[in-house]
Amino acid sequence: MSNQDKINKLIDLRAEAKLGGGEKRIEAQHKKGKFTSRERIEMLLDEGSFEEFDMFVTHRCTNFGMEKKKFLGDGVVTGRGTIDGRTVFVFSQDFTVFGGSLSETFAQKICKVMDMAMKAGAPVIGINDSGGARIQEGVTSLAGYAEIFERNILASGVIPQISAIFGPCAGGAVYSPALTDFVMMTEENSYMFVTGPKVVKTVTGEDISIDDLGGGKVHAQKSGVAHFLVEDEDEGILLIRKLLEYLPQNNLEEPPITECHDPIDRLEDALNEIIPDNPNQPYDVKDVIHAIVDVGEFLEVHRNYAKNIVTGFAKFDGQPVGIVANQPNYLAGVLDVDASRKAARFVRFLDAFNIPIITLVDVPGFLPGSGQEYAGIIIHGAKLMFAYGEATVPKITVTLRKSYGGAHDVMSCKQLRGDLNYAWPSAEIAVMGASGAVEVLHGRKLAEITDPEERAAYVQKHEDEYKANFANPYQAASYGYIDDVIEPRNTRFRIVRGLQALGTKKLTNPPKKHSNIPL
Ligand code: HXC
Repeated sequence: MSNQDKINKLIDLRAEAKLGGGEKRIEAQHKKGKFTSRERIEMLLDEGSFEEFDMFVTHRCTNFGMEKKKFLGDGVVTGRGTIDGRTVFVFSQDFTVFGGSLSETFAQKICKVMDMAMKAGAPVIGINDSGGARIQEGVTSLAGYAEIFERNILASGVIPQISAIFGPCAGGAVYSPALTDFVMMTEENSYMFVTGPKVVKTVTGEDISIDDLGGGKVHAQKSGVAHFLVEDEDEGILLIRKLLEYLPQNNLEEPPITECHDPIDRLEDALNEIIPDNPNQPYDVKDVIHAIVDVGEFLEVHRNYAKNIVTGFAKFDGQPVGIVANQPNYLAGVLDVDASRKAARFVRFLDAFNIPIITLVDVPGFLPGSGQEYAGIIIHGAKLMFAYGEATVPKITVTLRKSYGGAHDVMSCKQLRGDLNYAWPSAEIAVMGASGAVEVLHGRKLAEITDPEERAAYVQKHEDEYKANFANPYQAASYGYIDDVIEPRNTRFRIVRGLQALGTKKLTNPPKKHSNIPL
């Protein structure tokens, strides 16, 4: 064989590998409205930046005549490339090869890129489209999954891990994405479940469609498993690229600061009027967020889940931050189990990756009732408090309106090591709202008043008195719990200044193996 023959052989092998399971199966993939594993990588990475590893790997299974069925690459495309010039490691499951099912060697390929990502200190992006454990391989496939899970766990908090679910992801396979920082699903063709509809029907008798059991909408709205729901793969790929703009490469780096063309002292007069005079009237806290951040750009995380709290990424003067904000427009912004879990996980992500936290507070308290108590609101509320209290990144809190009771403490108050705590003049920082307080403080007297008019007048008088004393930020400010009461229209400038002041902040927690956050 001449050297040229050898080179030609390499070229042929590469071409074969690039066809995955073959043209027919690629066509079938396209017919479903899905891209192939390689097309997805090409769309995701900077043009020409992809370097593939392990293109010639094949499985070693000999069960069921498998030795005669081999495909170069064995069902997963792995490698390294760049996004906006920054290194990322990727794996993309190839449904055209044995339905993207995971073999021993398939798992080894994924583990290799994960190990390299950890060595290089760069994010890992996994694109999932798989029938799960390769049935012909049996237990070696299960072991392969566990090898991946262990790496997901060790990489957690060290490098960002992002999962896109662009096809099925079933059985124990769901636990790898679940262990990563962000899970994205598409509205169609994207499924996650521990047991599929057929098994569900057999075991429990429940008749449920694949979409209703584990489709993108279900996980984005009901379970909270998916952080992002996108219309299609194109949108999903763009969103992954966008998300990385806010993240550092690893936990030892700061997030990337970009040039900002939005004046830092831009006054937003509309904010002076955004809080309705009636404290029970809602407004959209996202209007506040859009008004204060750089060029109004906000990348919302978990947009469809626990809408009573808003979480997402934005920038102030080019500095990436995470925003956590109560949403008065939904359930009056009350804290419940789902909202507490959602925000706690986000706060922990931000802290792990050195991203400052901006908290906008308008919270009437925790949602009362047996439903919440039985669901463990005590534990889940504690989780959010723990996350805030443990976080060492810069923390700036702005109280827009209500900040009552335990929820006041939880939402990044001064004593949970809030660095800068500002309040708008409309802030009401108290143990509880006026009507509740009057019921408690004057319950005995109120029980004695039988005339409804007299009762209403009595309530009004004492509510007014309570509001005059507590429905404002000044009592908290008089103790120094609020650093300053600020004009709403000046909020952007004050946050930018605060971030500048805190840019060199260094804070460490006491040495320990790890904390015992209430899970
Ligand atoms: C081997 C598999 C496979 C698997 C699919 N294929 N899943 N081969 N192991 N797990 C093969 C099919 O035989 C078929 O091969 C090709 O992939 C395409 O599959 P289709 O069924 O034709 O595709 P589609 O109709 O789109 O259905 C996709 C699917 C279905 C919903 C994913 O294939 C399916 O239900 N597969 C099994 C899913 C499952 O139960 N997996 C195990 C989960 S438990 P041919 O040659 O005919 O084209 C698990 C444990 C993990 O994963 C534990 C970790 C701890």
